[in-house]
Amino acid sequence: MTDVQPREPLALPEVGEMKRAGTKIVMVTAYDHPSARLASEAGIDLLLVGDSAGNNVLGYETTVPVSMDEAVMLTAAVARARPRALIIGDMPFGSFQASDEEAVVNAVRLVKVGADAVKLEGAGPMVSRVRAIVGAGIPVMGHLGLTPQSATMLGGMKAQGRTAANARRMLADARELETAGCFSLVLEAVPARVAARITEALRIATIGIGAGSGCDGQVLVWHDLLGLNTGAAPRFVKRYADLAGETRRGLEAFAAEVRSGAYPADEHAYKISEEELRAFEADPG
Ligand code: KIV
Repeated sequence: MTDVQPREPLALPEVGEMKRAGTKIVMVTAYDHPSARLASEAGIDLLLVGDSAGNNVLGYETTVPVSMDEAVMLTAAVARARPRALIIGDMPFGSFQASDEEAVVNAVRLVKVGADAVKLEGAGPMVSRVRAIVGAGIPVMGHLGLTPQSATMLGGMKAQGRTAANARRMLADARELETAGCFSLVLEAVPARVAARITEALRIATIGIGAGSGCDGQVLVWHDLLGLNTGAAPRFVKRYADLAGETRRGLEAFAAEVRSGAYPADEHAYKISEEELRAFEADPG
């Protein structure tokens, strides 16, 4: 017997139902246990353990260096929070490009530690990876537009789909990913009117980031939306809190109280009875 309560995550078909009902889908990135717990308490629908962990928590300059072992560790930490939100494990660069077989093996690793689904960037040869992973019984979220893992090929971290030819290609890719079995699709840094047309053309839900209000849902990176990142941000970022400021204020107050002796006060200390103390002082050993 175990006393672990069964987790009751959002059922996958609900994502499609939300699209059909016109209910906006809310996704955030999360890379650790407390964030996953808070996001779940806040009623977030989807948690993406994004490879954006690379530049937001692991100290890399881009998402490219993130390894499969790191993705597994972060996904496991999020899953231990047993959130109601669906957990989507992002497949890092190098974990799915080489072959369908490798893609399935690595998607399985993420599912083994608690991902409900995986996400991978791109179309073209990646459509076959989607088919293989879905064929192995693992739901896949696609990702088109600005795909940071291949930013060099795209000419940098730039909006995509800004010419008719490019927008047409993106719509064709989106349709192929839908046919291959993706249950939803991230559209990143895409003109709002192009993303809205793609959203209308698909049965699966689109989740936009810098893709306007016509998508079926929205995602932002945890550190951006909560104001933990304070430098220049892409135009689509909106800060809903100032956690960097709050954190700095808390740390400065702690440092000041330690230095002044105000912390710890009596209420933060453990007690010993007078009798035991006298015995200890009489014979410290
Ligand atoms: O890794 C990530 O955070 C992402 C989102 C930007 C969609 O892929």
